[in-house]
Amino acid sequence: MTNVRVLTGIKPSGTPHLGNYVGAIRPTVRASREPGIDSFLFLADYHALISTHDPQRVQRSTLEIAATWIACGLDPSRVTFYRQSDIPEILELTWLLACVCGKGLLNRAHAYKAAVDKNVAEGRDADDGVSMGLFMYPVLMAADILMFNAHRVPVGRDQIQHIEMARDLASSFNHLYGEHFTLPEAVIDEHVATLPGLDGRKMSKSYDNVIPLFAPREQLRRLIMGIVTDSRAPGEPKDTDGSALFQIYQAFGTAEETATLARDFAAGIAWSEAKERLFERIDREIAPMRATYDELMAHPERVEALLRAGAAKARAVATPFSARLRAAVGLRSLDDLGAAVGSGPATAKAALPVFKQYREGDGHFYFKLTDAKGHVLLQSVGFESPKAAGQAIARLKADGWGNCPDLHPLINAVAPPERIEAALATLRRA
Ligand code: TRP
Repeated sequence: MTNVRVLTGIKPSGTPHLGNYVGAIRPTVRASREPGIDSFLFLADYHALISTHDPQRVQRSTLEIAATWIACGLDPSRVTFYRQSDIPEILELTWLLACVCGKGLLNRAHAYKAAVDKNVAEGRDADDGVSMGLFMYPVLMAADILMFNAHRVPVGRDQIQHIEMARDLASSFNHLYGEHFTLPEAVIDEHVATLPGLDGRKMSKSYDNVIPLFAPREQLRRLIMGIVTDSRAPGEPKDTDGSALFQIYQAFGTAEETATLARDFAAGIAWSEAKERLFERIDREIAPMRATYDELMAHPERVEALLRAGAAKARAVATPFSARLRAAVGLRSLDDLGAAVGSGPATAKAALPVFKQYREGDGHFYFKLTDAKGHVLLQSVGFESPKAAGQAIARLKADGWGNCPDLHPLINAVAPPERIEAALATLRRA
């Protein structure tokens, strides 16, 4: 049985905070260590270009995010960890998918619709400030997923529609060109903790209430001392319900440690002491990762080497798959045209004799030569490989039937030799 392929993209933007760590990084790293899973994790840097035109920022974020994930325990030897832009096949697939994607499908994408609605509400042109990158974003995301035939894609709720679109595009493509793509499923983790921030609301950059994941120890302490609490004095019992401090502690402490803190809340622990305990508890988990992070940030070349190794692993899948997809849509070498007809509209060739290659249930590769009217002239026996069959055809075309006596045991002449020679001569001139 093959492993389940799980794939997630991380948009490199902004500095990761404790909320990202608890809600996304830590659970994803843990999941990537489970047996029976092939995990694909990538830095979505093509996506980053949609929201920023600052080259330094793109590069810097890529380093920060890669270093963060590795420092948090992502093991590049078990996970395929790569940078999207190292896999040019993804862009090629984006185009193939764009050509089976109705524009109307993208008109309905939430992110695009939100931009349009806002423009219209504010009296601007509907597409004001909308780049084709933003509009095409779901197609790029579908290519990310379908390139590796991921079974499962863990995402936030806001991304479900994009996974649905990836399924739609995969189905359209499969319908037109054969079964190439696995239909991916979105996986929504209902249990992920959303961490409160300094002010008690959800920790988020947009509320400016975040604790950076790798803040230096002293800054971490200072920030934690600033978490909002009520005004109960030392000795007064305190509520765990609705306490941001308690909730954050819970995301780091064991069940036992958390129970102890709950008892101490009831017994009237001073807020300053509770904060000190929270600080030490978080720092105990983060400090070793912070050391690794600082080390990696000081050595970008190590991160680069890891990403390149990841790209090589990813391309070992992407390059051959891409070749298969190109052939499927008709981006093919012209070399095989002479021999293999039998797919696609053939009206223009109707007036010519034709070699037809095909495979039988016995697994062998056959061909026949028919004349312009469709009468069979030659019928081969079964060859071991399509290549061997193709070579025989090439020799017949080049040299004629009479000049290839060694092929006669492998090919039955169904018509008189002169008709066979005439058909081959026609093909040679064609
Ligand atoms: N769009 C995702 C986000 O904003 C990131 C992403 C890009 C992604 N490509 C992906 C997620 C493929 C899952 C699969 O969070």
